Amino acid sequence: MSTQTTKTEVGSYFISNYPPYSQWTADAISEIEQAFAKPPVACDGQAPPMGLYLHIPFCRKRCKFCYFKVFTNVNADQIERYVSALSSEISLVAEQPIMSGRQFRFVYFGGGTPSFLSVKQLRSLMERLHEHVTWNGAEEVTFECEPGTLSEAKVQTLRELGVTRLSLGVENFSDAILEENGRAHLSKEVYRAWEWIQSAGFPNVNIDLISGMVGETWENWKENIRKTIELSPDSVTIYQMELPFNTVYSKGILEAQREAPVADWPTKREWVRYAFESFQEHGYSISSAYTVIKDPSKVNFSYRDNLWSGADLLATGIASFGHASGVHYQNVPEWDRYLGMILDQGRLPLGRAYRSSPLQLLIREMILQLKRGYLDTPYFQTKFGADIASQWREVWQDYEKDGYVVLRTDDASKVVRIELTMEGLLRADGLLPAFFEPSFRSVRYT
Ligand SMILES: C[S@@+](CC[C@H](N)C(=O)[O-])C[C@H]1O[C@@H](n2cnc3c(N)ncnc32)[C@H](O)[C@@H]1O
Ligand code: SF4
Repeated sequence: MSTQTTKTEVGSYFISNYPPYSQWTADAISEIEQAFAKPPVACDGQAPPMGLYLHIPFCRKRCKFCYFKVFTNVNADQIERYVSALSSEISLVAEQPIMSGRQFRFVYFGGGTPSFLSVKQLRSLMERLHEHVTWNGAEEVTFECEPGTLSEAKVQTLRELGVTRLSLGVENFSDAILEENGRAHLSKEVYRAWEWIQSAGFPNVNIDLISGMVGETWENWKENIRKTIELSPDSVTIYQMELPFNTVYSKGILEAQREAPVADWPTKREWVRYAFESFQEHGYSISSAYTVIKDPSKVNFSYRDNLWSGADLLATGIASFGHASGVHYQNVPEWDRYLGMILDQGRLPLGRAYRSSPLQLLIREMILQLKRGYLDTPYFQTKFGADIASQWREVWQDYEKDGYVVLRTDDASKVVRIELTMEGLLRADGLLPAFFEPSFRSVRYT
């Protein structure tokens, strides 16, 4: 996200939450402990949907653009210790009163690279997890995969273990670009894995692409889209390359005081526009600022849609982010501390938290749902008692003038739906800070 300049500069970021992560503090940990110690806060007389996120922080290599908490060069003993800690953490979470008999509506194995685990490690992790929690009732179990970590047996195992949505980090089909950006996989590994994935029969398969990898050109981007359409995945997620502070590229750029070798924002947006239009010509529909889907009746994105509508998310694993009863929290990001808190002290590895005000909960849902491409104003009236069209009238009017939104009205001229135009959708992240409370507009995001 960048509003100031057309260049992709170090420090750009992806908005995934509100208030900014930089505002969460260790002092507020008692807030999340208290939230966990009580039954869920009901909404319309019902507990909100709940999901489980499990973070697997291992990767074969650190991609030069990646900003996630990942570890490379780990040995089998370290993985075993991590899997033990994660299983124990889940047992601690399962005992919390906030669970109070609730079922997980969605489960998400994210990373890092969950598919880095071997078949044996995966089976052992799942066995241990199922001693404490079940996800039989979940409508979606997502598992993120890096193509070169897959084998036929592993793909089969994932399906047997109940994964319903497999997300494959393809990113690009050019081997030269993959190598330049520090990816561990090459395109032949995508094609090899694709056959196994197809024959395992997952209900949903997603491909991740990035617009603006170092070395990208128009010609190659068109090839990426052509090849993705040829594979015919159920959905495609297209990120525009961000350069947060903690990536290998960002550090190199700051040290050498040179310009980022990444295409500028207008070019990355044109690439996404081209992708959206090409997918639409092949029967896909746009489902958010980042996603196209092949069959809207089949792909429901439980994780994304529930999270964007205020669901509770119990986050487990090192540095994971979660949200429960209006309180945000993040686990500690240090390896020894994370393992020690769980395995030696038998306590949840909570690192920082933030209790949101009612206004902040409203802003959070509004900006997250805007990424989907539209806001239904009656939803916010019913849930928060807020008229978002008038509360942020000036912002909407500016965006309407700029051609980023269209305001749909009913017979009484009341705005009932706010829709992003294609121009708005392509820069959705850049539109969001205008809704931040003034004190959070100039603070660091992460
Ligand atoms: C956790 S990874 C997916 C699984 C696996 N680790 C992999 O990369 O294949 C999530 C996705 O974030 C995206 N991503 C990572 N760093 C990015 C950046 N700096 N800008 C835009 N997208 C990024 C990539 O598309 C990646 O597939
Ligand atoms: S993009 Fe994926 S594979 Fe690459 S370092 Fe990040 S989490 Fe690991």
